[in-house]
Amino acid sequence: MSITREFLRRPWVTGAVAASSARLAAAMTDGLDLERAATVVELGPGTGAITEAILPRLAAGTRLVAVELNPVLAARLAERYRHDARVTVVSGSAAELAGIVPEPVDAVVSGLPWTVMPAALQRRVLDAVTAVLQPRGRFSTFAYAHAGWTPPARRFAAELAARFSTVERSRMVWANLPPAYVHRAGEPRVSPRGPRIPSGRAALDAGGPRSSGA
Ligand SMILES: C[S@@+](CC[C@H](N)C(=O)[O-])C[C@H]1O[C@@H](n2cnc3c(N)ncnc32)[C@H](O)[C@@H]1O
Repeated sequence: MSITREFLRRPWVTGAVAASSARLAAAMTDGLDLERAATVVELGPGTGAITEAILPRLAAGTRLVAVELNPVLAARLAERYRHDARVTVVSGSAAELAGIVPEPVDAVVSGLPWTVMPAALQRRVLDAVTAVLQPRGRFSTFAYAHAGWTPPARRFAAELAARFSTVERSRMVWANLPPAYVHRAGEPRVSPRGPRIPSGRAALDAGGPRSSGA
């Protein structure tokens, strides 16, 4: 099962002709403080190219919830990580994130194809992301360089700036097909959940609550 094949079957949902490269996956997971996270969410994991970069950064007790709309890809991913107790794969839409993850989330890593999404869905998913993130939570997502100046990409960048206090853009990752860059955002402006107890690894060290399974 490859992203290329899924792209040919469902181009408007898959949104990529190839899986992200290791370089892009590394850039997507930099600067998110994943090492101290208690709960991390990945949206649109596909075949797991970015999941592979997330997992080595996570502590043994960290929970990774991967939400994939394509049921075939979700089933493959669940099978691949069936022995890793940290990973929960949910076959569903990122728009339903608030119902999928009950606890505050430290970081959301998104591989979603924003520029092929209808504007209303783009907004709904971003609202769901800010709703689950804890106040100091972080978000990363990538954009393809060639599409950066299209109206959907510019609309997405504006929506991101409206929802986060800090938004930065990485250097271009040329070693990707096609070349891409990462939007890294922090401090959601709306974060109704708030921290339960001290967030991140500190919570685990303190014997804070944990979940297993979605
Ligand atoms: C561009 S591919 C990225 C795959 C992988 N993260 C990577 O970087 O190689 C986008 C993925 O998002 C999934 N997707 C699209 N819309 C989604 C949604 N609303 N909720 C969850 N996943 C979605 C697609 O099925 C596809 O697997």
